[in-house]
Amino acid sequence: MVQIAPSILSADFANLARDIDIVARGGAHALHVDVMDGHFVPNISIGIPVVQALKMTTRLPLDVHLMIENPERFVPDFVKAGADLLAVHVEACPHIHRVITMIKSSGVKAGIALNPGTPLGSLSEILHMVNFVLIMSVNPGFGGQSFIPDSIDKIRRLSNVIHSRDLNVTIAVDGGVSENNAADLVTAGARLLVAGSSIFKSSDPAEAVRRLIAITHPIGSSHT
Ligand code: DX5
Ligand code: ZN
Repeated sequence: MVQIAPSILSADFANLARDIDIVARGGAHALHVDVMDGHFVPNISIGIPVVQALKMTTRLPLDVHLMIENPERFVPDFVKAGADLLAVHVEACPHIHRVITMIKSSGVKAGIALNPGTPLGSLSEILHMVNFVLIMSVNPGFGGQSFIPDSIDKIRRLSNVIHSRDLNVTIAVDGGVSENNAADLVTAGARLLVAGSSIFKSSDPAEAVRRLIAITHPIGSSHT
């Protein structure tokens, strides 16, 4: 099954509860929450209190994407705040094995995010430990950037590795995801699609979610 996770980075921050309700009515499966520290990425977004507030507002699982340096310092806080999935960047963690172990022992789903320029090989010693891999299809830091087409081949290669090692790891993709590339991404092996601007900047965000579901579900079910 393919899951759609709208990224609230492109929502109206003054009306988050309203915007979340809209995408929930469209059938969104999770909410993607982008945390940026102004160091790992050249932007600052939101943090622990907002995750806490979102948890009170929605029953959708919170998929928290940490774009911060030394994320291990804050893993317990984000778990406590209500993250259901927690992704850290391999580029931000010299002790990635320890961080993934920490996330998993907290009882939330552990993910590892990869920038577009980071090779899949950086996952080899850790792939069997994670619940999901978040393939960045833009250089992280901002919503509304153009999708990097090479990401499709990267997802295909990762999917082959996961199958050849007989692992149970979900491929997520984040950045520039829209109706134009959703089918190709799912065919390549992605099963969790994060989409910000293509949903929240559309004239009807609930309908945008429905359309992404309609495009991806038939392909996702026939390939799994
Ligand atoms: C980028 C973030 C993304 C972003 C996606 O740094 O990690 O989650 O919100 O936004 P779009 O879908 O507009 O590229
Ligand atoms: Zn993200």
